Amino acid sequence: MTTTIWRNANVATFCGDTPYGWLPGATIVTRGNEVIWLGADRDLPATLTEESANEHHLGGACVTPGLIDCHTHLVYAGNRAREFELRLQGATYEEIARAGGGIRSTVAATRDASDDQLLSLAVARAKALMREGVTAVEIKSGYGLSEVDEARCLRVARRFGEALPLTVRTTFLGAHAIPPEFDQRADDYVAAVCDWMPRLHAEGLIDAVDAFCERIGFTVAQTRQVFERARSLGLPVKLHAEQLSDQHGAALAAEFAALSCDHLEYVGSDGIAAMASAGTVAVLLPGAYYFLRETQLPPVAALREAGVPIALATDHNPGSSPTLSPLLMMNMACTLFRMTPEEAWRGFTVNAARALGLPPTCGALGAGARADFAVWDAEHPRDLVYRFGHHPLQQLIQGGQRVAID
Ligand code: NIG
Ligand code: FE
Repeated sequence: MTTTIWRNANVATFCGDTPYGWLPGATIVTRGNEVIWLGADRDLPATLTEESANEHHLGGACVTPGLIDCHTHLVYAGNRAREFELRLQGATYEEIARAGGGIRSTVAATRDASDDQLLSLAVARAKALMREGVTAVEIKSGYGLSEVDEARCLRVARRFGEALPLTVRTTFLGAHAIPPEFDQRADDYVAAVCDWMPRLHAEGLIDAVDAFCERIGFTVAQTRQVFERARSLGLPVKLHAEQLSDQHGAALAAEFAALSCDHLEYVGSDGIAAMASAGTVAVLLPGAYYFLRETQLPPVAALREAGVPIALATDHNPGSSPTLSPLLMMNMACTLFRMTPEEAWRGFTVNAARALGLPPTCGALGAGARADFAVWDAEHPRDLVYRFGHHPLQQLIQGGQRVAID
């Protein structure tokens, strides 16, 4: 295994209690895909210098852990620009969904696309995320909504690992919407989703299970059935909870020790307390809040006070958040949700790792960590949150290797 030295960096480690885990004038030593030493340049042990095969000088650049985008719907075909126009003329997201548009229109386009088309569309999107420092991504299914099409989308997500130097976690979101062939038969559809799950899992396609618990999605009782099946298979759960209304989905998810509850604009104190005691992460999604012109803010202060870890994600999808910019999401989390820049960074690193159930070696930098990091044209991580619409990434290192993104 090759040992590589990365000298002269100002590193936000997100380890320890200091703000940002800030370590200026630092050197990182990697061996294989692991960080084996991280400390002040002057303390670098001579044995490591002798052992190293490569040395890179980072010229005082800012280094952070690779970003983890813990909530995306990257695999789909088509777009919803026409729906955007309709919403600008006054139609609401819910009205469009009830009229058979919304998620269902993306399902139709996705079913029509070949596996290779889905893969190349998704790879192009993932590359855009990588150009903003992403080294790990969660990908949900949920635009197939038949056993065959959900399996296709999950296989495409798995093929990412081969196509790109990117860590991928897959989430089965069969309970995203009711497909046309199950119209008015939500309970039958939920039974079908539960029936597919063991086969998809046996094929190694599922890392976690999610559902859309909402007036235009699934009830708490239906979500419970999906979660019970997940639990019987030993799969962790997550939930699209309280995005448009308070369905008390977060409390249900916490009962199943969910990894995360996502969106949460309408979550009440019961949901927050349940998440706090279950150790469930709150994943806030400023892109969807902004794009749907939501006015109900997620209760950041109450989540903080209750000690619920807060993560952020792009929620990239064609309907409610067609963004591929984690840095813009960090900026919006501060300007719109009043989070601090440090909270925004923790939201895309340490807390995002936790929302995906990744090992503690992911999301922070220190000896023993996975060698995923981003090198930025910036003096400090706060600069990257303050600016928006820039392209500040200098280098991306995934598993100790420099990544070339075409
Ligand atoms: O996270 N809320 C449900 N799912 C997506 C939107 C899906 C769509 O509109 O296509 C979300 O916002
Ligand atoms: Fe989503």
